[in-house]
Amino acid sequence: MHEGRLRALAAARERLGATAPNPPVGAAVFSAEGEVLGIGAHLGAGRPHAEIEALRACGETLGRAHSMFVTLEPCNHQGQTPPCTAALLQAGVRTVWIGALDPNPNVRGGGGAALRQAGVDVRLLSESALSDERGLALHCEDLIAPYTHWLRTGRPYVTLKRVFDAAGRMEPPPGRKTFSSHRLLEYAHHLRRESDAVLTGSGTVLADRPEFTVRHVLDFRTAPRRLSICDRRGRVDAAYLAAAAERGLLPRIVSDVEAELDALGAEGVHQLLAEAGPALTDHMIAYGLWDRLVTIRQFSPQEEQVTVERPV
Ligand SMILES: NC(=O)c1ccc[n+]([C@@H]2O[C@H](COP(=O)([O-])OP(=O)(O)OC[C@H]3O[C@@H](n4cnc5c(N)ncnc54)[C@H](OP(=O)(O)O)[C@@H]3O)[C@@H](O)[C@H]2O)c1
Repeated sequence: MHEGRLRALAAARERLGATAPNPPVGAAVFSAEGEVLGIGAHLGAGRPHAEIEALRACGETLGRAHSMFVTLEPCNHQGQTPPCTAALLQAGVRTVWIGALDPNPNVRGGGGAALRQAGVDVRLLSESALSDERGLALHCEDLIAPYTHWLRTGRPYVTLKRVFDAAGRMEPPPGRKTFSSHRLLEYAHHLRRESDAVLTGSGTVLADRPEFTVRHVLDFRTAPRRLSICDRRGRVDAAYLAAAAERGLLPRIVSDVEAELDALGAEGVHQLLAEAGPALTDHMIAYGLWDRLVTIRQFSPQEEQVTVERPV
């Protein structure tokens, strides 16, 4: 069963950046013998939840559905889609393993309680005696970290990305404005794809005139991604802003990073990628304005090191 659960987690991760404002979710349906019958993920807001996708994926084997693993507690309320708890009961699922409880205090525990009341054996992976199950619970928590952070603080979850060359410089050599390795470009565009907004500084815009679009991987986004540019002196020209809007971004000039995080949070932005030069990056580090710090050291076009840190 562990492998099936990992596949459900992987299916959810593949949709990072596609589900906003909903969190990513994955699910797996098993037979009584532990055979995987269906895997599903939430594909996007307004579309069926992961549980429903997983039940659908069972096809003709649905009658053998016995247990389900879902990375996030099933919902018990009518939203844009009907409650998942009802679908699980209708499918005859008898045991439900939950990776993470819903972090929304208004609904937390409700789905699990409704299923228990209907006689379903509901278990939390975080309470398992097995270490690999508890480990998986941590991955499920991590999957929804931006959503949890936004609910708790009202601010987007900030990924701060910085790239150093072999000499420890953030400024690229003259004539270049980006990484040389295709692998790193893909990784950087994955980080961008996950984000509802990008934050940068005027220094970066003036030096590189970056596009800030997702090009090296498929972009899932249908709504425009926000582009907030820190520029207290008004050095960024109107032509850059107009071109950014033409590329499908929602650019705006801001003067206070913390106030902008509050504003973006209030607008429903859960996840932000900061891609700035040393001035703004150092400021954000000094003031603890990050939730995930991605440091890339590029020693040569073939050799790089990626470090991901979380605040302690
Ligand atoms: N290696 C990397 O990861 C990376 C990433 C991006 C860019 N870069 C490189 O970085 C270089 C540019 O460096 P940079 O340091 O000038 O760029 P930057 O940090 O992107 O922009 C600096 C500007 O941001 C504004 N700013 C800084 N701190 C602020 C704060 N606390 N609140 C509000 N605004 C603030 C300031 O403009 P005002 O004073 O006008 O407000 C400042 O001049 C370029 O060569 C670029 O290629 C490297």
